[in-house]
Amino acid sequence: MSQTWWRGAAIYQVYLRSFADGNGDGVGDLAGLRSRLPYLKDLGIDAIWLNPWYPSPMADGGYDVADYRDIEPVFGTLAEAETFIAEAHELDIRVIIDVVPNHSSTASAWFQQALADPGARARFWFRDEPNDWQSIFGGPAWTQVADGQWYLHLFAPEQPDFNWADPDVHREFEDVLRFWFDRGVDGFRIDSAALLFKSDTSYEDLDEVHDVYRRWREVADEYGERVLIGEVWLPDQERFARYLRPDELHTAFNFDFLSCPWEPAELRRVIDLTLATHIPIGAPPTWVLSNHDVTRPVTRYGRADTAFAHGGALHGSPSDAELGYRRARAAALLAMALPGCVYVYQGEELGLPEVEALPDELRQDPMYVRSGGANPGRDGCRVPLPWSGDEPPFGFGDGRPWLPQPEGWRKLTAEAQRADLGSMLNLYRTALGLRRDLLGDGTLGWLPSGPDVLAFTRDSGLTCVSNLGTGPVPLPAGTVLLASGPLDDATLPPDTTAWLTTPA
Ligand code: GLC
Repeated sequence: MSQTWWRGAAIYQVYLRSFADGNGDGVGDLAGLRSRLPYLKDLGIDAIWLNPWYPSPMADGGYDVADYRDIEPVFGTLAEAETFIAEAHELDIRVIIDVVPNHSSTASAWFQQALADPGARARFWFRDEPNDWQSIFGGPAWTQVADGQWYLHLFAPEQPDFNWADPDVHREFEDVLRFWFDRGVDGFRIDSAALLFKSDTSYEDLDEVHDVYRRWREVADEYGERVLIGEVWLPDQERFARYLRPDELHTAFNFDFLSCPWEPAELRRVIDLTLATHIPIGAPPTWVLSNHDVTRPVTRYGRADTAFAHGGALHGSPSDAELGYRRARAAALLAMALPGCVYVYQGEELGLPEVEALPDELRQDPMYVRSGGANPGRDGCRVPLPWSGDEPPFGFGDGRPWLPQPEGWRKLTAEAQRADLGSMLNLYRTALGLRRDLLGDGTLGWLPSGPDVLAFTRDSGLTCVSNLGTGPVPLPAGTVLLASGPLDDATLPPDTTAWLTTPA
């Protein structure tokens, strides 16, 4: 199998609204992102994945897409997106964008047409009677329109589900893929990739979805080295692997790893299961610690329960900040040493914590709103990044950021961390640099170790060892290249990962 760029890539996720603001309106945009491309180059990533940048009423942070062939005016223009793609490519950074095929926006032309004309509803799920399905964000999955019919929305009411039994929908998305491939994008992250089709009794993982991805793969292949990445949350590994057959998607997110508690036996089980799922089908595994939907690792790893579960997100579960920070550093080196692709969600490289103390009236996430406030939602991991300076907006832009940044982030700005050799930012920079030379795609070999230790070698001879126990353990033989925390002589302290060269 040929070694292509995406197989071992480090992919940086940009949540555009919160990355950098170029025009002072308090919302991140393409101008801000373009101005920070040198930062991303210096960090050592191979590709950027952007959350949806399309025109949107923002009922779900842009996952309610009103027009798949343009750019949200708050973010910039189509011409600017093209300039951004060219600038990223000049720096040898690939660009992956989100595509949202399960649902649209109530503001889309198609849905407006369907509302106006009951004869034009075949592209969505209109019924005379709703069934008992609940929305993934809480509350019923059906909303009634003025003439009495109901439409299905697995997410917010502003996100009507497409009817993939309608050939128009197939044609539309193939055309959307081409539209962006023609403009130079290197791949798509496919939102809610396992949902698309519905039967009377199920909306997840119906067999027909695979025909769609076979067709999309043909389209992608026409353009050369483009990549299709699925957001596939399926606990059944056999079902999951079907999305990665050689004529379907190239890779998919590893949510087992992302949700896994900081426990050695569980992590080892998930790593082994991931490798066993991917290696026989020749697809690279992906290692993800965070994204725009989940609690920031620094906070999660400091809690009594270190697993992540959407429904389990709670207000005010206490977190030991120092412990969480130490573990997040150890987890980052573990994730970056594993074979395949690694994802870094913006701010993860700065060690940002979840912002739990947001004023309720500023929270925007429909998960918060639709749960009646019971679920804190995802705003806490979407707070605008701190770049520089001593007070908000910390160089994010000239305006007041759309979500407030904590005062304490003065210590976490990219500028402050750049100057501190021991910072999270410098840990990520060094690790991504070494990873590029020594890690990436391939396999691993486990080394014998005690039950609290994960130790393995990679084909390049690099050894990675993580201590998840409560006391120090001896380091394996070799020269230490990098460690997530201070080492005592020849031992590895708890909640620490080290990378070593293996002696010849
Ligand atoms: C995906 C996105 C999430 C969004 C949902 C509905 O899970 O990651 O942010 O709310 O799809 O589009």
